[in-house]
Amino acid sequence: MTIELAPSILSANFARLGEEAKAALDGGGTVLHVDVMDGHFVPNITVGPLVVAALRKTLPNAILDCHLMIEHPDEFIPALAEAGASWISVHQEACIHLHRTLQLIESHGCKSGVVLNPATPVHMVDEVLDLVHHVLVMSVNPGFGAQKFISGALRKIKTLVEVREALGLSFRIEVDGGVALDTVGDVVRAGAELLVAGNAVFAKGNIRENAKKLLEAARSATLTRA
Ligand code: DX5
Ligand code: ZN
Repeated sequence: MTIELAPSILSANFARLGEEAKAALDGGGTVLHVDVMDGHFVPNITVGPLVVAALRKTLPNAILDCHLMIEHPDEFIPALAEAGASWISVHQEACIHLHRTLQLIESHGCKSGVVLNPATPVHMVDEVLDLVHHVLVMSVNPGFGAQKFISGALRKIKTLVEVREALGLSFRIEVDGGVALDTVGDVVRAGAELLVAGNAVFAKGNIRENAKKLLEAARSATLTRA
């Protein structure tokens, strides 16, 4: 299992977005996590296709991981793919026709992911696990950075590891919310391999060093995993 760090630009300084995103990737981040919020599905508004296109222009080779926290995601998937999104994930809770939406993402040449809110059990996505590239387990209620890690996410990550093994599938397990030096060991030991982190990377200090230290902590947790 390859541990990867996905810095979340939500906590970056948007007036210096390109520069800060580059620093996080320089520090070892391999996936750039882009939170798309509409003020309806979640109580906050962020960015959309225009900013994804700008990031794609500045970072031509980066993996842009777009996490859609919006109602009616089908309406924006084509524009996000066109703007340069690499991965697009949608919330189970936002999709009436989840299977169709995941197919739509793949049909636009992006890798698809499904996201689970803290109150949503893993079995709600059982029927699409063979379709998706990744399952994103929210470890905070979506909408804002710098919230406290909800430890119930650990049990869900472990369940996903077991289900993946039992069914012989290959989806990756991503975790998002409250991932920092004090929680990263637990999420890695539970089985998460794509680690989203906003506040811990961008909020204070040196972005490159923050990313580097977090990734080191994650990798050393792998070594000690039972
Ligand atoms: C929250 C977003 C997260 C957020 C995580 O709704 O989906 O990606 O940036 O932020 P931290 O790492 O600060 O909890
Ligand atoms: Zn996110």
